[in-house]
Amino acid sequence: MAPKAFWIGLGNMGRGMCKNVVEKADVEHPVLIYNRTKQRSIEFSEKFPSGKTEVVDSVTAGVAQADVIFTILAKDDVVEAVAEEIFKAGDITGKLFVECSTIHPDTTTRLAKLFTDRGAEFVAAPVFGAPAMAEIGQLVGVLAGPEASVEKARQYFKGVMSRNDIDMSGEPYEKALQLKVIGNTFVANMVEQLSEGLVLSEKSGLGTQYLHSFVENIFPGPFVAYSTRIQSGAYHEMSYPLFPVDLALKDAGHALNLAKASGVRMKNLEVANAHLLEVKKHDGEKGDIAGIYGAVREEAGLKSVYSSTLPRSLAIRRATPFALVETYRRTFASHNLEIRNNGQRSNRTAGCNEANTNTRRWSVIIGLVIVVAMSLAAWFFSPKGENQVLWRSSLILSIASCFLMWAVTFLAQLHPLIEPRRSDLRKEYIHH
Ligand SMILES: NC(=O)c1ccc[n+]([C@@H]2O[C@H](COP(=O)([O-])OP(=O)(O)OC[C@H]3O[C@@H](n4cnc5c(N)ncnc54)[C@H](OP(=O)(O)O)[C@@H]3O)[C@@H](O)[C@H]2O)c1
Repeated sequence: MAPKAFWIGLGNMGRGMCKNVVEKADVEHPVLIYNRTKQRSIEFSEKFPSGKTEVVDSVTAGVAQADVIFTILAKDDVVEAVAEEIFKAGDITGKLFVECSTIHPDTTTRLAKLFTDRGAEFVAAPVFGAPAMAEIGQLVGVLAGPEASVEKARQYFKGVMSRNDIDMSGEPYEKALQLKVIGNTFVANMVEQLSEGLVLSEKSGLGTQYLHSFVENIFPGPFVAYSTRIQSGAYHEMSYPLFPVDLALKDAGHALNLAKASGVRMKNLEVANAHLLEVKKHDGEKGDIAGIYGAVREEAGLKSVYSSTLPRSLAIRRATPFALVETYRRTFASHNLEIRNNGQRSNRTAGCNEANTNTRRWSVIIGLVIVVAMSLAAWFFSPKGENQVLWRSSLILSIASCFLMWAVTFLAQLHPLIEPRRSDLRKEYIHH
């Protein structure tokens, strides 16, 4: 029989990862789910057909029923506190715990001992990849622990939550976290590098669009995603960040700590870390790692709240999981989109949009002129005789009905009465 799974932690990463376990893994349904904020579990569960998931009220209730338990939580003390809850469930012998959070390697070692001392199996399984990657099962897992335990955990990664894994079976647990922590320094340094490059491109007069093209051509992948995200402005408008500054600071802190303990200096990371502290001061817990760009701008004497050098609609569409809504907005309400460039509309793109909208408006008038011309032709060229009135009225009514049907549909798209609205923006950034 398939194992019973229990998922703890439905944050940005947890939701996507759990979704893939529910939909693709060989587990007994319903998959049990728990999140500190219960409403999140309820909303998440409602996305699946009934019987696929079940919200449990406590960690202990889930652990008692499950064979395999996944955790992905914010930070070390949270994971340790949840572990204490897990132990309250009683006998955990034989259960498999797959711990996916990014925590300090020493914390993982401590936790693994607590679990294995109680007869459970433990796999350290941090993941690489952003929430959007988690959503589509394209993460990269790093699995460390005893070979037999890793073998059991592997079935939930490649092809389910991840596109590939870094296999550390047989290695000490902490190695997975060492790799994760060092790997994350690449992300912070990449954002720092992009921010400095973009700000210099702007201030030197080169123009950020050329740097973005360079990045697209030479560094495709995460560099492009972050360049887009940085320039979209979405990161400081969203009510919940994609990579919260608190988590980025935690990751940087772990890496700096590891470096110090190993007698290494990570000067690049120190710079990124200092900028992250500025982001935290500026945006509080809603800050996102991409806010480093704002800090670098401020240092360079630019406005810290940050320009959008890409068309905002395009940038948000690429940078966030709300592509569908944004595509809809662009298609049906393009005249409403604000294209921001240093707080103003980009002349080139704004002009282009206005021109498009005007062309669309004129097409209704042009359509009407064509319809009138066709109606006049129908009036004058209808065959004479006793059926002339019938010919004229049939032709003119058909032409007018076709035009009305087209015009109503077209105008509804040009000026929709009800548009889809993003629900994840802070109030001040919702454009009506
Ligand atoms: N975001 C990324 O790009 C990314 C990528 C790879 C790995 N990671 C790592 O994955 C982990 C989760 O990241 P995330 O982006 O999903 O974070 P997140 O969106 O902030 O979610 C954090 C999760 O931890 C829970 N939590 C926070 N404080 C808690 C507490 N005191 N007690 C109980 N539960 C608590 C949250 O519950 P509530 O819903 O109640 O707040 C939520 O389920 C972190 O270790 C992060 O470093 C993140």
